[in-house]
Amino acid sequence: LPVALAALVFGYLLGSIPFGLILTRAAGLGDIRSIGSGNIGATNVLRTGNRKLAAATLLLDALKATAAAAIGWYFFGKEAGLIAGFAAFLGHLFPVWLGFKGGKGVATYIGTLLGIAPAMVLVFAFVWLSVAKLSKYSSLSALVATLVIPVALWLIGEPKVSFVMAIMTVISWWKHKANIERLIAGTEGKIGQKG
Ligand code: G3P
Repeated sequence: LPVALAALVFGYLLGSIPFGLILTRAAGLGDIRSIGSGNIGATNVLRTGNRKLAAATLLLDALKATAAAAIGWYFFGKEAGLIAGFAAFLGHLFPVWLGFKGGKGVATYIGTLLGIAPAMVLVFAFVWLSVAKLSKYSSLSALVATLVIPVALWLIGEPKVSFVMAIMTVISWWKHKANIERLIAGTEGKIGQKG
């Protein structure tokens, strides 16, 4: 239990670093929370028109979860890594520094996969890119990809990882509820579209 608790706290703190907010502020673009969807993630950073900053946000938000998972695994084993990755995801979604109003967890979801089941990142990328190519919706692509991953993990014989990623899928879907409403209403912004 102390190991699980340490992995949780450590992962949470790493995950709660809001790179989208930090980078856009550092670039003089103002507060990302008052732009576009108001989200702190890479999709919304792209709405500032700065692709490099969006890519950096995606990379850093993902890698903070990968780092948490990899460090947890290295010191305490795979399950601790999984817990640390999950905690980083929670830290990103509910950062104490931002009054617990964080992101939607797509990058940290990918980052956790990269740390725990790296081959699954290819599955995620394939599904995300396919849906994005067809629909041009970042949110829809993530919603579909996060549905496929727990199933794929189950099929390759990773029930524990599948279970934790399934919980992350449910939480991320819940955080996407405004996106889901906009998708249904046909008012969701397409990738890179401003406003
Ligand atoms: O999956 C991408 C998701 O985070 C959507 O972001 O800014 O369109 O709400 P946003």
